[in-house]
This record gives sequence, structure tokens and C-alpha cells, in this order.
Amino acid sequence: MTPPIRPAAHKDLEDILRVQRASLSNPWSQELTQGVLRTGKFTVRVAEISGQVVGYAIFHPRDTLSNLDQVAVAPPHRRQGLGRMLVADWLAQAKSQGFVRYSLQVNPSNQAAQNLYLQAGFRFHRQLPAYYPNQEDAIEMVLGQGIPDLPSVSPAFPSPTPRPAPKPPPGSPLAPPKT
Ligand SMILES: CC(C)(COP(=O)(O)OP(=O)(O)OC[C@H]1O[C@@H](n2cnc3c(N)ncnc32)[C@H](O)[C@@H]1OP(=O)(O)O)[C@@H](O)C(=O)NCCC(=O)NCCS
Repeated sequence: MTPPIRPAAHKDLEDILRVQRASLSNPWSQELTQGVLRTGKFTVRVAEISGQVVGYAIFHPRDTLSNLDQVAVAPPHRRQGLGRMLVADWLAQAKSQGFVRYSLQVNPSNQAAQNLYLQAGFRFHRQLPAYYPNQEDAIEMVLGQGIPDLPSVSPAFPSPTPRPAPKPPPGSPLAPPKT
């Protein structure tokens, strides 16, 4: 049976935290996860089986790319194709948001996740030294043509507060009128 993948709601917070804590060695705090659910900067999608959230993916726009922040599947439901479905859903959602390039960061020792991403067509892009809070490096993987010089990556614990948009250059049609 194909589990529905749908946008997360605030009522899903506890379930997302449960899957996250069972899956990640450096889970986000409750406050941060709650903030990520609240702000429009991140998209959170959940996979549900029999009314229970068993997996989720979190992504956000990063320059001209869509960046995957987390994907996790509850341990009893792994190796059943859910991770693959969540990644495919991320790519489809991001495409519908206008993105054609994608990035993610993964722990070099996380072979399961790397296999998942390689299967989805991602390639290794660069090493990110001391990316994680414990100073471990990350590997950045990308998908899509013409990946630009990527802006420096925010740490694995992002701020859920949307940053103010950069000011458009003077003379640009988006620049505020001079007063
Ligand atoms: C990585 C993760 C999301 C994969 O989810 P999943 O539902 O088990 O993955 P799938 O069943 O869709 O597997 C898809 C592919 O991923 C790879 N894969 C998944 N688990 C694997 C494992 N334990 N060992 C090796 N490869 C694995 C395989 O290539 C697999 O394809 P195959 O079944 O044809 O061999 C899951 O293991 C997880 O939640 N891990 C902890 C959280 C995490 O590391 N997230 C990624 C970084 S944020």
C-alpha cells in the first residue's frame, strides 16, 4: 500500500519528534522543530500509515536550490521504500515550487542515507568540514545541472526564523523607490 504523504500540521509535532529522536543522533530540540513547523520558510511533509506518522521530510529554499534538511523513517518501517518515497515527494514538491536543483548534507558514515540519495540520482559535491555540532564533517550531495557556487551552508541546526530577504541592488526593479 502506498502511504499518503501530506503536509505536516501542528498536531504532528509529537509524532515528528518521536521519529526524529529514534532516527537522528543529533535531533533538533522541541522548540526548534516546532519553530520549523510554524514558519513558512520550511516545508515539512509526513508519511502516514494507518493514521500514524511513520516518516517525514523537511526542506527549504537555499539560494536557487531546494535543500533537504532532514528525512527520517521510524525504525520498524524502514527498508519498505518509505525513504525513497519521501525523497521523491521532496523532489516533486520542490519542482512544483519552481526548483530544478537540489542539495543535501549527509554524515560520511551514514551509508544507508547515501545509498538512498545515490539511487535518487544525487552525486557527491564537496566535503563540509566541522558541519555538525560535534564537529564531524558532512558530505554535500547535489542533483541537477549547473549547480552554482553554493552559498556557505547554515549549520545542521538552522534558525527557524526566516532571514530578511537580501536588499535588491540599487536600480533593480525590486529596489525600493528613493525617497
Ligand atoms: C535513511 C532512511 C531515511 C532510509 O529510509 P528507508 O525507508 O529505510 O529507505 P528505503 O526502504 O526507501 O530504501 C531506499 C534505498 O536506500 C538504501 N538503504 C536504505 N536503508 C539502507 C541500509 N540500512 N543499508 C544500506 N542501504 C540502505 C538502499 O539503497 C535502498 O534501496 P534498496 O532497498 O533497493 O536496496 C532511514 O534509514 C532513516 O530514517 N535513517 C535515520 C535518519 C537518517 O539517517 N536520515 C538521513 C539523514 S537526515
